[in-house]
Amino acid sequence: MSSENIIVIDGKEYAFSPGETILEVAEKNGIDIPTLCYLKGASPTGSCRICVVEVEGARALVASCAAPAGANMVVRTESPRVLKARRLNLELLLASGQHNCLAQDMDVDSWTDFQLSAMGVKEHEDLCPAYGNCKLQDLAIRYQVKTNRFQPPDTRYPIENVNPFIVRDFSRCILCGRCVQACNEIQVNNAISFGYRGAESKIVARGDLALKDSDCVFCGECVQACPVGALISKQDLLAGPKHDETMMVRTTCAYCGVGCQLYLHVRDNKVFKVTGVEDAGPNFGSLCVKGRFGYDFINDPERLTTPLIRENGNLREASWDEALDLVSERFGRIKEDSGPDSIGVLCSARITNEDNYLAQKFTRAAIGTNNIDHCARL
Ligand code: FES
Repeated sequence: MSSENIIVIDGKEYAFSPGETILEVAEKNGIDIPTLCYLKGASPTGSCRICVVEVEGARALVASCAAPAGANMVVRTESPRVLKARRLNLELLLASGQHNCLAQDMDVDSWTDFQLSAMGVKEHEDLCPAYGNCKLQDLAIRYQVKTNRFQPPDTRYPIENVNPFIVRDFSRCILCGRCVQACNEIQVNNAISFGYRGAESKIVARGDLALKDSDCVFCGECVQACPVGALISKQDLLAGPKHDETMMVRTTCAYCGVGCQLYLHVRDNKVFKVTGVEDAGPNFGSLCVKGRFGYDFINDPERLTTPLIRENGNLREASWDEALDLVSERFGRIKEDSGPDSIGVLCSARITNEDNYLAQKFTRAAIGTNNIDHCARL
C-alpha cells in the first residue's frame, strides 16, 4: 500500500481506498465515531454534525460521514474540541423539539428548567415510545448532556395518525433527514421531502398532505430509519412501553420467496413490532408494507391453529397426526386407483425457496409424478 493511502486516526495509521470517508475507515478499523443523521447506503447529508472530528490543518471541524479520507490526513475523534462541539450539537438537537426522555428516570425535584418545560407539554406526559431505543437519548447520555441553555419551541404541528400504520409526531422530529434518505434513496419511493424553511421546517409528503393521501406506500422504511420517536409504528405504540422485556427473534419473512431477513420484537409471547435485519441480505433492513406491518394475524383470536377435517359437511378440529395420516391415506388411495400422474402439485411464490424445494421433492419422490408447477409461471 503506498503512503498516499494512509490516514492517521487517533495516533494510528490505517490504509484506505480512494473514495472512502473518514467514518468508513474508522468503522472498518473498530473506531467508534458516533453518528445520528448518517444512513448506510444513502448519500451523506452531514446535517447533524454529531460525527465531527478534528483534522490537523483544517480550520473547522469536519463531518466524518461526508468527508473523504485523504492521504496523510491526521484525525482526532475524541479531542476536547470535538467533545465540546458534539455536546453543543446535542443541546441544539434536544432543543429542537419535545424530548422529555432525559427527565423520565429522574426525581422530579432534580429536573432542570429544560426538563420541566419539556415535561410540561400535555401530549407528551407519557413516556416517549422510542424511550430506550432512541439514538438522540443514547448520545445525550453518552455525552452527559444534563441541561440545556436553549428553550424548546412550542409544538408547531399536530401529531398525525390518520393512517393504519404510522404515527408522525413532528414535535419529536430533529430534521435529521434519515427518513427522507430512506424513502428516496433506499426504497426509491420519493414520497417525502423537506418542506418549509427555518423554524417552520417539516418533513412533508406531497406538498404537505397526510401520508394516507400521498405517494407513501407504507413500507415503513422511514420508521426504521428514524433515530428518535418522531415516526413510530402504530401497533408498536399501542403495545405501550416494553423495551426492557423485549425478545428479538430473527426469522425469514414468509410473505414471498425473496427471503427478507427480519426481527420479530416479542413481548409476553406476542409480536408487537417487526424490523428488517440491517446487516444481512437480501433486504439489508428494507421491508415492504406486508413484511413490516402485516403481523396482527399471528395473535388474531380467529386464526386457525389446528387442522380441520370435514365430516358429513361439517368441519371438526383434529390433531396434526390425524390430519396428516388422513391426507397420506387419501393420496395413497388416489395413486393406487388412478396412478401417480393423476395427482398434481401447485407451488407458490408466497413460500420460501426451501418450502418450494420440499414440495417438488415430495411430488417427485413421494407421489412419483413430475406434475409440479408454480404460480409464478402464470
Ligand atoms: Fe455525520 Fe450527522 S452523522 S453529520
